[in-house]
Parts: sequence; structure tokens; C-alpha cells
Amino acid sequence: MKKYTTFILLGIIVILAALLAGVLFFMKNHPVEQRAVVQPLVTVEPMEPDSSVWGTNYPLEYSSWLLTESNNIDTEYGGSSGFSHLERDPRQVFLFMGYPFSRDYNDDRGHGNALTDVNATKRVTETTHATCYSCKSSSNPALWDELGLEGYDSMLFSEIAPRVTETIGCANCHEAGTMRLIVTNPSLENALEAQGLDWETFTRQEMRTVVCGNCHVEYYFSGENKILTCPWENGTRIDQIIAYYDEIGFCDWTYPGAETAMLKAQHPEFEFFTAGSTHYNAGVACADCHMPYTRDGAMKYSNHNIHSPLLDPQAACGQCHTDVDYVTGRVNEIQDQVFTAKQALEDALVDAITALQLAVADPDSDPALLDEARTLHRQAQFMWDFVSAENSMGFHNPEYALSIIAEATDLARQAQMKAAQAADDPSLLQVGIYYTLDPVPTPVP
Ligand code: HEC
Ligand code: HEC
Ligand code: HEC
Ligand code: HEC
Repeated sequence: MKKYTTFILLGIIVILAALLAGVLFFMKNHPVEQRAVVQPLVTVEPMEPDSSVWGTNYPLEYSSWLLTESNNIDTEYGGSSGFSHLERDPRQVFLFMGYPFSRDYNDDRGHGNALTDVNATKRVTETTHATCYSCKSSSNPALWDELGLEGYDSMLFSEIAPRVTETIGCANCHEAGTMRLIVTNPSLENALEAQGLDWETFTRQEMRTVVCGNCHVEYYFSGENKILTCPWENGTRIDQIIAYYDEIGFCDWTYPGAETAMLKAQHPEFEFFTAGSTHYNAGVACADCHMPYTRDGAMKYSNHNIHSPLLDPQAACGQCHTDVDYVTGRVNEIQDQVFTAKQALEDALVDAITALQLAVADPDSDPALLDEARTLHRQAQFMWDFVSAENSMGFHNPEYALSIIAEATDLARQAQMKAAQAADDPSLLQVGIYYTLDPVPTPVP
């Protein structure tokens, strides 16, 4: 009996070994699909700013990256034309009154235009610091290496301009030679460190999101030297960010007439997406939707033509979802809901600001209650901006977007009530009070 078992076992082993040899032989003759990593033709220097040098080695990634400059198609809420948010929604001229965003606020375009667009914006003045170039150029990693973050940020925009010659490129996301994804922006490194995180320990899938966090984050300019800083010390959720700004007593500008110390949100795609969105929780990364794998003959590469996934949903969503029409339909519904709720919030903010301005103009108003109204205004408007400046019209995290808007609308109405209480004037409680003013003021930048 024992002898038979040994024979059977031996037999099984022989068969398995034969199968394995067969598989190995097959694999040798049918190599696993070739990735686009080819034998390097040129040596790329560390932090090489010129993407065309990298492009010699990686022509597929390079040629798809080049397309980001000429993209010009719009979707309902996004897209690449760079339309004016102020023209589409004049309420924003009022909401940003006293701040450069009320002069010039265009939708984001492709990476290939980042340098042109920052050089053209009317928001830059003679006193603007170099910090504004931080997210616009592949010249930066080498400059940060040479000057340090402080040295870079303390320079003026006009002073560093001649050295910032390239738009966003390979050196913003990759390490030359290894081509691995890296954190290149020292501010992101600092912000992760402040939370006890070391990006060098992150998985490849995590880096496919974190690499976008080099730029697509909330930030502010800290101190005299305008050091680029992410307000993440307490965490990256909106309440933690507001708490941080309150603790350090930060404000971006003072709202005219209301005298509220305001906060401007930037483009918090990273914080927004990673705050427990369905996709993030499921392990999906920014690059999955914005840089889907594309086939070119036998080669498979990440499409570097980063733009709205709605322009090619089959590639962007079809890798995971079988019913692409259904999921893109869901995007439209989510975005419409968020847009409608966001506009109701804007109306509430316009009312709150108007009531506050009228209450401040009244010498008999209670100063303590005015301050309470201002605190509510500051919070509500930052929360609005956090959703509004985030570029997906809520899609990256629909529940989060709607819950922030709901809370902010409540806070804005409370601000209006506090202002009415401060002035002891019930007429300030009116909904649409701005439009009852005679004459209705035209918002001036
Ligand atoms: C599940 C897919 C998905 C993931 C993951 C994802 N996005 Fe998006 N993203 C979208 C969709 C859909 C839109 C909406 C596009 C539109 O309205 O045209 C969008 C919009 C954007 C926009 C504005 C595009 C435009 O046309 O103006 C930016 C910028 C952006 N995403 C960056 C990011 C970043 C950064 C991450 C990771 C932190 C990320 N996205 C993760 C699907 C995704
Ligand atoms: C070095 C900074 C930087 C990095 C890194 C970066 N972005 Fe951007 N991104 C920008 C800037 C700046 C713009 C707006 C450019 C403009 O409007 O001229 C932008 C625009 C976009 C747009 C809008 C494109 C369009 O056609 O409307 C999308 C989508 C986007 N980024 C996604 C991503 C994703 C996904 C990643 C990570 C894989 C990423 N970005 C990494 C800075 C960056
Ligand atoms: C905004 C960030 C970003 C920029 C800019 C960028 N890449 Fe990438 N690249 C990525 C991401 C994300 C991946 C996917 C990496 C992964 O899955 O590990 C990638 C992957 C690659 C790969 C691996 C093969 C592949 O296609 O998946 C190569 C090679 C590459 N990029 C070359 C380039 C070159 C050349 C440039 C400049 C012309 C460039 N990249 C610019 C983010 C970027
Ligand atoms: C890498 C895989 C992946 C990609 C790419 C992807 N998704 Fe998803 N998506 C998921 C997973 C996983 C879920 C979680 C629900 C599930 O298991 O079906 C999900 C859920 C959803 C949901 C339902 C969300 C909810 O909360 O009910 C929508 C809508 C959706 N995706 C839209 C999109 C769109 C639009 C795109 C393309 C822009 C896209 N997805 C790209 C994996 C992906």
C-alpha cells in the first residue's frame, strides 16, 4: 500500500514538473506583454527639466504628454478650454470681492499650458513671489535642489521667471533613470512628514495618487517669505484644515465692508478624493482614471494625455466598469446635484455678506455679534470654495461634496441671522437681500 502511494506521489510530481517545464517554455516564446519601458537611448540627468530629452527614451509617453497642450474640448462642467468661471457665474465676482480671483479666474487647462497660463494671469503683480511657479514647471525640482524651498519661495516671481522655462513635465513626477514615481515638491514632503508619513514607504498604487498631490492640493503661503505650505498638520479633512488655519490665525484677504478675515481654497483634489471616497476606499488611484493604459501594437503604456475622463470614458472607466453609459450617466447626475446645491449656497453667502456689510455700516451694531457673524461667514465661504475650487464638480467624492455644501449653507444662513441680530434689524433676514438693494450694486472686482 505504502509503495503505491509513493509511486502515485512520484507520478504526480513528474507530471507537475513536466507541466511547469511546458509553461516556462511557452512563456519564453511568448513573452509577457511588453511594457513601454525600453532600453534607454540617452542618459537622462537627474531632474532634467527638458521633457523632450526624456522623450527620446519614452516616445509613447512623450507624444501623449505633448497632446495636453492642444486639448480644447469642454465637458458640461470641466474640460480644457479654460473658460472664465466669473463669466459663467458672476456671483463669484461678488464672493471674491477685494481679492485677485474676482479679476481673473479661469478653468484649468492641460499640463502643457501651465507655464503659459501662469505667466498670463492678471492675478500676478510686481510683489508676487516665485512660490506661484511651484506647480507649473519641470524646471522646479532642479531649482529647489539648488536654492532650497526657502531660497526659491523668497525670490520674486519676476526674478525667477527667466529660469522657469519648461511647463509641467517628466521631472515633476519621475526619478530619472529608475522612472519610479516620486514626491518632487518639498512642500508635499514636509506636509507628509508633519503627519508622520514617509512617501518612500508608499506602495506603487499609492504613488499613482500621491504623485498628483505634488500639485493638486490645498496650500497657503506661510510667512514673509511666502513658503508654500499644506495646512495638513491636523489632518487633511476640511474641519481639520479650518481648525489649522484658525489656530495659526491665517487669512488670505479681508472682505470689503464685511471685514471678515477670509480664506481662499486652492484645488484640493487630493484631500477631497482621499477623504473616504468610494473609489479611494476601493484602491483606485488618480492615474487609473486620468492616465489609463493604452495599447500601441504590442506595447502597453500609461496615457500621459491627462484630461477629463469623460472625453474617453471607455478607456478611463471601461477597464473596471462594464456599463460605461451607466457610470457616465451617474457622473452627470452627481455633478448636476452638486452644481445646484452649490448655487443655493452661493445665494446664501451673498445674502450673508450683504447683511453683514449693512450691519457693519450701522454704528449701533453689537461688535461681539458682528464677530460671530464674521466667523460663520469665514467658515461657510471656505467650505463653499473647497468644493467649488475642487475641479470635479463633486464627482471625486459626491457624499463629501454634498455634506460640506449642506453644512456650509446652514452656516451662511446663520451668519446672516447673526448680522441681523447684531444690527437688531429684522429686514436683514430677507432671502435675496442683495437684490432688494436700490440700486442693486454691480459687483466690482
Ligand atoms: C474614478 C475616476 C477618477 C479618479 C480616481 C480621479 N478622477 Fe479626477 N475626474 C474624474 C471625472 C469623471 C472628472 C470630471 C470631468 C469633467 O467634469 O469633465 C474629473 C475631473 C478632474 C479634474 C478637472 C478636469 C477638467 O476637465 O477640468 C482634475 C484636475 C482631476 N479630476 C484631478 C484628479 C486627481 C488629482 C485625482 C486623484 C487625487 C483624481 N482626479 C482622481 C474621474 C476621476
Ligand atoms: C507639477 C504640478 C502638477 C502635477 C504633478 C500634476 N498636475 Fe495636474 N495640473 C496642474 C496645473 C497647474 C494644472 C492647470 C494648468 C492650466 O490651467 O494651465 C493642471 C491641470 C490638470 C487637469 C485638467 C486638464 C484639462 O485639460 O482641463 C487634470 C485632469 C489634471 N491636472 C490631473 C492630474 C493628475 C491625474 C495628476 C497626477 C497623475 C496631475 N494632474 C499631476 C499641476 C499639476
Ligand atoms: C503628472 C505626473 C506625470 C508626468 C508629468 C509624467 N508622468 Fe510618466 N507616469 C506617471 C504615472 C502616474 C505613471 C504610471 C506609473 C505606474 O503605474 O507605476 C507613469 C508611467 C510612466 C512610464 C512607465 C511606463 C508606462 O507608460 O506606464 C514611463 C516610461 C513614463 N511614465 C515616462 C514619462 C515621460 C517620458 C514623461 C515626460 C514626457 C512623463 N512620464 C511625465 C506620471 C507622470
Ligand atoms: C480601477 C477601477 C475603476 C475605475 C478605473 C473606475 N472605477 Fe468606478 N468604481 C470602482 C469600484 C471598485 C467601485 C465600488 C463599487 C463597486 O464595487 O462596484 C466603483 C464605483 C463607481 C460608482 C458608484 C459609486 C457609488 O458610490 O455608488 C460610480 C458612479 C463609478 N464608479 C463611476 C466611475 C467612472 C465615471 C469612472 C471613469 C471616469 C470610473 N468609475 C472608473 C472601480 C473603478
